Amino acid sequence: MGDQAQLLRRLVDKDRGARRAKVITVASGKGGVGKTNIVVNLGIVLAGLGQVTTIVDADLGLANVDVVLGQYFRYDLEHVLKGEKTLEEVIGLGPHGLRIVPSASGVPQMANMENKQRNLLIAELAKLEHTTDFLLIDTGAGISRNVLSFANLADEVIIVVTPEPTSLADAYGLVKILVKGKAVRKIALIVNRAQGIQEGKLTGERFLALTERFLNFKMRFLGYILDDAVVGQAVRKQQPFVQSYPESWPSRQLERIAKEMLGQSAEALPERGLLSGLLRLFGGR
Ligand SMILES: Nc1ncnc2c1ncn2[C@@H]1O[C@H](COP(=O)(O)OP(=O)(O)OP(=O)(O)O)[C@@H](O)[C@H]1O
Ligand SMILES: [Mg+2]
Repeated sequence: MGDQAQLLRRLVDKDRGARRAKVITVASGKGGVGKTNIVVNLGIVLAGLGQVTTIVDADLGLANVDVVLGQYFRYDLEHVLKGEKTLEEVIGLGPHGLRIVPSASGVPQMANMENKQRNLLIAELAKLEHTTDFLLIDTGAGISRNVLSFANLADEVIIVVTPEPTSLADAYGLVKILVKGKAVRKIALIVNRAQGIQEGKLTGERFLALTERFLNFKMRFLGYILDDAVVGQAVRKQQPFVQSYPESWPSRQLERIAKEMLGQSAEALPERGLLSGLLRLFGGR
């Protein structure tokens, strides 16, 4: 076992019995399907429901959580990786006390990080686990090493799709890789930009049936969000839609999704923490 695994094992042992965040990585096959909007607005809804919620902009290099939020932050992950700030120090505050770990363009990809930097980020992320109920990680599109790392360390991965065949095909490819990789245990689905309720439901049900039949894996259907002009309008105004259009369909549907997530997380603590996820990633137990 390397130094890194030993460090993680120490942290995991210390971690026993402590409060633990539910770590959720949001990913997609195809880009531009609504991940960042979902992370930001879902984060605000969860925070509004009294959950201590932290969102992490892990779309390293092409970060835009700040753009969707309409809030800009002085420090970001780049300062953490350079060792200039701790993760706690770069956290910004959003609506309802939502905590934001911002990123910036030009942050090196996880895959290219030096060991020292990676250790630092792991140790810092691990600290967050005890100060938050939900840790939502926004990733870039596709199947980069970075995305897979964040997926592998999560308690649950949420895959966002739109009803377009290209989005569905790419998402299927991603789910297949995650299932074959065996590190991910729970995968949920959100259908975004459905043209109607029927399309939203059917798209979700069909995707679940497909993955169950061909990958022998049961996903969870978290819900659908309608295609609605308020989303684009909110992005242009740089105000999250749950705030500028609280009565819109997407806002109400996201609330339903948040409650679904809460109901589930109330039933059981996550089976494993971020730390043990990381430990498996870097070669421990
Ligand atoms: N439910 C929706 N209804 C209408 N438009 C939407 C909806 N969801 C997302 N969009 C549009 O799609 C755009 C892209 O969304 P977003 O940036 O959240 O996608 P993304 O998956 O994070 O993209 P990337 O893969 O580049 O990170 C939004 O700016 C908005 O215009
Ligand atoms: Mg995005």
